[in-house]
This record gives sequence, C-alpha cells and structure tokens, in this order.
Amino acid sequence: MAKSNVSLGGRDILDLESLSVEEIELILKTAEEMKKIMKRDIKKVPSLRGKSIINLFYEPSTRTRTSFELAGKYLGADVVNITTGNSSVVKGECLRDTILTVLWLVFVVFVLLYCIVGAAVYVVNVADPVIINAGDGAHAHPSQGLLDMFTIREQGKSLKGLKMAIIGDILYSRVARTNIAAWNKMGAEVHVAGPMTLLPHDIEALGVTVHKHVEDAIADADVVDILRIQLERQKKGLFPTTREYARIFGINEKRLALAKPDVTVLHPGPMNRGLEISWEVGYCDNAAIRTEVQNGVAVRMALLFLTLTGGKHIENVD
Ligand code: CP
Repeated sequence: MAKSNVSLGGRDILDLESLSVEEIELILKTAEEMKKIMKRDIKKVPSLRGKSIINLFYEPSTRTRTSFELAGKYLGADVVNITTGNSSVVKGECLRDTILTVLWLVFVVFVLLYCIVGAAVYVVNVADPVIINAGDGAHAHPSQGLLDMFTIREQGKSLKGLKMAIIGDILYSRVARTNIAAWNKMGAEVHVAGPMTLLPHDIEALGVTVHKHVEDAIADADVVDILRIQLERQKKGLFPTTREYARIFGINEKRLALAKPDVTVLHPGPMNRGLEISWEVGYCDNAAIRTEVQNGVAVRMALLFLTLTGGKHIENVD
C-alpha cells in the first residue's frame, strides 16, 4: 500500500466534517487494502494484536455493531461488545461511569453508538483513548458515510460532479447529515426531497438543493440514497400515514427510472420494504445494499487500523 503523509494516528473520529479530503482519501484507500484481506481464506492479520476495542452500543444495531466487531477481530484485536440492555446501565449507571469502569479494566478504543447528539464528543472529554462515533442521535454516522463513498468509488464512479439524491426523513437522519457534509466536501451535487415536516428548517444552509417533488430530486441522479423512516422516532405525527408516505415519497421502479440508467441505489438499512423502498427496488440490479453491508467491514477495519496504528505496521496488512 502506498505511504501517505497524512496520519490519523490517535484521532477520534466523531464526524466527517472534521476530516479533510486527504484524510477521507486515506481511509478509502486503506479500505481497499482491507477488502483484499476480507477476500482471503484466512481473514486475519496481526495489526491490532494486543489492543482492546469496546463496542459500547446504547441503541439497537445489526450492521454497525457486527461490522465493527468483525473489523476488530480481522485485525487481531480483542473485541468486547457492551449492549446497554445487558449492562449495568439498566441499574442506572451513567455514561461517564460506564466509560470509566471499562477504562479501569483495560486501555481501549471505544466505538460508541448513542441516542443523544453529542454523546461521542462528551466521551472524548471523559476518556483518553480513541473514540469512534458509531452514530449519535441525528448528528453523525461517519462510518456509514465512508462506506457509502467507498461503495460508489468501487463502482468506478468519481464522487466529483456526481448528482446524489437523498430521499426521506432528513430531520432525524444522522446518515443524511453525514452524507450531505461528506458528499459536498468531495465535490458531489446533493439534492434532497422529503416531507416538509421531516426537513430541518436550515436545510439549505447545509449546501443542498431542496425539491418539493421526489421525482425532481431523482431526475438524472447518479446515486439515490433512500433513508429509513425511523418509526421508533416518529412519535410526533410528522407524516399522516405510512401508506401516504409510500405513495408520495416511496421509491419504486417507476420513480427510479427517472434517474440515470446506471444509478446506484443506497440504503443504510434496515429497510422498511414497501414504505420508503419497494421490494423491487430493494432487489434490483442497481441496488448496492448488500455491497454497502460488506464494505462496512472494510471501512471500519481501515478506521481502526489508521487511528490505532497511525498507518504504521503497513507490512502486516500487505
Ligand atoms: N446502517 C446502520 O446503522 O444499520 P444498523 O442500525 O443495523 O447498525
């Protein structure tokens, strides 16, 4: 792997706004190497041997938690998963004490998923080890943003000048905020559409073109990123019914046909099939949903490797 002057050694990864284009490039290039390891019969290198990683997840997760766990294990680290439902958090232990308790046990890297915006920043002030934000409220999901970019680049598309349409619940979506910031930074053109009630009031300040009709956002798009309707956060009646949402904003084959023929369909998962995405679109040739899941491991391997080794011991990865 080519050497880079950029280093992420010891860095907390809280969002993509605070990473430079060069740092994002380094992560994506390193992920390419990690994907080669994933294709080996024995998916194991010793780069992080002797290091401990704690996956501390305060929210349910399948993809993010499993892929961070696999990523750490493929790189030889000791990985411990703490899901709050099975921890002393249910006895009332606060985030600070939970972090400190784990720190007293081992010197670790924390991967943290928390329901409240700013939780990862708070933990940085409590603990010295590297913190990787696996998602905090509606704020940021940096590893998802990186794996989406990686997936598009792997298809031979350059991010610069690409038209990306993000459809759905922008207000509650950490994926949307992350991707808007990242794709703008990498030179793409970002368009959004969704119910007015699910668009942040300052949406245009994020550097996107807002469309009233989903068809206008999708027209000639290179990438359509379909957001999950977060039913668990929809307690305020911000759209009338799921049926109406599917009718007005759901992405079906007819709507997708408005995009470029080689459009890539992204969805962070889990999908509400028949709501924000039809069954046919979820399974169509343009859907990269399975690849996103697989690339999530490679990108998370790159994040762990770069933050924990500063990109050193490359010889163990090649
Ligand atoms: N994309 C994503 O965050 O999925 P999970 O909720 O399954 O981790």
